[in-house]
Amino acid sequence: MAVLGIESTAHTASVGIVSDRAEVLGLASDMYRPPAGGIHPREAANHHVELLPGLVRQALDAAHVAPSEIEAVAFAQGPGLGPCLRAGATVARMLALTWEKPLVPVNHCVAHVEIARVLSGLDDPLLLYASGGNTQVIAYGRGRYRVLGETLDIGIGNFLDKLWIGLGGTFPGGPALELEARAGANLHELPYSVHGMDVAFSGMLTAALALHRKGVARPDLALSVESTAYAMLTEITERALAHRRRDSVVLGGGVACNERLRGMVRTMVEERGGTMFAPPRAMCVDNGAMIAWTGRLAFRAGATAAVEDSAVEPRQRTDLVATPWRAE
Ligand code: ATP
Ligand code: FE2
Repeated sequence: MAVLGIESTAHTASVGIVSDRAEVLGLASDMYRPPAGGIHPREAANHHVELLPGLVRQALDAAHVAPSEIEAVAFAQGPGLGPCLRAGATVARMLALTWEKPLVPVNHCVAHVEIARVLSGLDDPLLLYASGGNTQVIAYGRGRYRVLGETLDIGIGNFLDKLWIGLGGTFPGGPALELEARAGANLHELPYSVHGMDVAFSGMLTAALALHRKGVARPDLALSVESTAYAMLTEITERALAHRRRDSVVLGGGVACNERLRGMVRTMVEERGGTMFAPPRAMCVDNGAMIAWTGRLAFRAGATAAVEDSAVEPRQRTDLVATPWRAE
């Protein structure tokens, strides 16, 4: 049997269908790209409302699966932008009622972690989850995913996006800065902000924009920002590995697409004699398959919700959601 999952927490509307063995049977996604500036929640939500019904159809067609072969309907309950979350949740409730299937709310961050974990084949790795809104080092312990360290201000992806928009570009900034950095030659010093297991990025944003105004070339700025920001993430990941006595690291979230970040974390982990795994890009960025897979885990553990108890939770935290499928 297959599970269908709906993702709509922010910019991406996506429907995924996965099998019991975490094979992606069907995946249909569409990303809202604002013409200028950052994401406007209501405009992104309108995009999702318009596109989700067609994406459901596309995913079913790609999977060659009939609604009767769907076991449960999962959706991202939070964290995310309220209007965007409600768009996905409404479609999920409607499908669950029409098809008479259980409804399964899923935490978006836990979904990034679970898809990366199942694809890695590693049982209990440390997780570096680096995305637009979130930057967390996570390990499982006693019934929850525990956040060992995280950003104290903005998520690393939001930092990259804001910087790129400040340099005259459009959302998303991370992939554009990655290309730009390849042509960079000179490193400029930027604030390196690690506080124990936590990081912060707003000081670097201010400093990088100031360097831009002074005429530092975009490729050099991109190289300096990537080197500094990813070194910060590598440092807190290494500290967490040492404290938690783990030897493997799995990456997740949109920023985990980045080759420089992958390389830096890989070097650190392998120098310690451990293993590093990064999922294919389509499984790092927001996607319905990760919601479907985590929904499948939750459903099998009995974590379904009645429609009246399925309200979205824009501020739901990784370390506050139960993970009954992960027994000690
Ligand atoms: P979350 O809700 O999990 O915080 P999100 O909704 O922002 O995440 P994701 O798709 O997980 O969505 O991540 C998107 C972020 O990833 C954007 O900020 C984007 O700039 C960044 N990103 C994507 N590709 C790359 C890349 N190659 N290098 C760096 N950053 C990237
Ligand atoms: Fe995400």
